[in-house]
Amino acid sequence: MKILVLHGPNLNMLGIREPMLYGDVTLAEVDAAITTLAGELGIQVEIAQSNSESVLIDKIHSAAGSCQGVVINPAAYTHTSVALRDAIAAVALPAVEVHLSNIHGREKFRTRSYIAPVALGQIAGFGADSYLLGLRAIFNHIKKGLS
Ligand code: DQA
Repeated sequence: MKILVLHGPNLNMLGIREPMLYGDVTLAEVDAAITTLAGELGIQVEIAQSNSESVLIDKIHSAAGSCQGVVINPAAYTHTSVALRDAIAAVALPAVEVHLSNIHGREKFRTRSYIAPVALGQIAGFGADSYLLGLRAIFNHIKKGLS
């Protein structure tokens, strides 16, 4: 099993960026934790970060055929991007939306997700653990389908 893990815009700034909201963990540390969990689960992960909507869309397109699922933190594109939502719908891969912060407890504009309706579900508010919970969720979902 191979899962695409995508980080959206500004997540390369983790550790420096608004630590009161996002903590002091760096993206490299998040990726290391994801890779460790993937090893424990016996699966492969492809991890990528981009600040560009088009690069994220291309990554989702190329996951069709090579990956069985997607874990995505669309970051600010969560609240703006119909194109990202359409990309997930287009490839018809199961996707889990994750957020470090609880987007439902912040500004009103963050409570709206264009991605959630095309995702299996959303995990928000657990810091870096949101990614690990998301990876476990998609792993369990796909495994159930395979067995
Ligand atoms: C975020 C929440 C978004 O609203 C914000 O734009 C981000 C990070 C999170 O992980 O909490 O960039 O996706």
